[in-house]
Amino acid sequence: MSEPLTLGVLASGRGSNFQSIIDSIESGALNARIAVLITDNPGAYALERAAKHNIEALIIRPRDFPDKDAYYSHIAGELGKRGVELVILAGFMRVVGKALIEKYPNRIMNIHPALLPSFPGLHGQKQAVDYGVKISGCTVHFVDEGVDTGPVIIQAAVPVYHDDTEETLSERILREEHRIFPEAIRLYAEGRISVEGRKVIIAGRGRD
Ligand code: GRF
Repeated sequence: MSEPLTLGVLASGRGSNFQSIIDSIESGALNARIAVLITDNPGAYALERAAKHNIEALIIRPRDFPDKDAYYSHIAGELGKRGVELVILAGFMRVVGKALIEKYPNRIMNIHPALLPSFPGLHGQKQAVDYGVKISGCTVHFVDEGVDTGPVIIQAAVPVYHDDTEETLSERILREEHRIFPEAIRLYAEGRISVEGRKVIIAGRGRD
């Protein structure tokens, strides 16, 4: 088997997506290792998950830096030092700065709880419920400088019912998030993902 892909994970909160990646690695489904968890939130539950799985964790807060550039340059440096090849945003609640994106072009993945380009930004699930759509879902995409605008890697759809609340829809979407995020990372680790402009091509998956 080839060398495991080195990941760096950024998370701000509960970290259930972080956990799904840990679980995929531990079960052998994903040939990767997580070199570091970085959080902007000292209260993030993701920190406990990291401790439990012996993953190094760093708390790096924007307020300790003069500006956004300095903050993301520092994060990029910490990731670089650890040989991180792919950066995973697993519920990282900030718009990532240029300094990090330029160091990892098309090498930062995010998961968004809606079918982009519908309902970007915060509360994608609530936006879907309020709009009254019948189908929503989640999207794994590469990160560019916009808000949820980068090239789409994988999407999964779920039904939206008339009596759904933000909570019930979030739960249904989350189950799919936990499936497609590790899957997207696996495709990357297998060298099967390439990007042409806005389009992500997955080798060996239909019509190629
Ligand atoms: C998920 O809904 C994800 O789509 C969004 O933030 C939430 C993070 O949840 N980007 P968790 O921290 O991974 O449990």
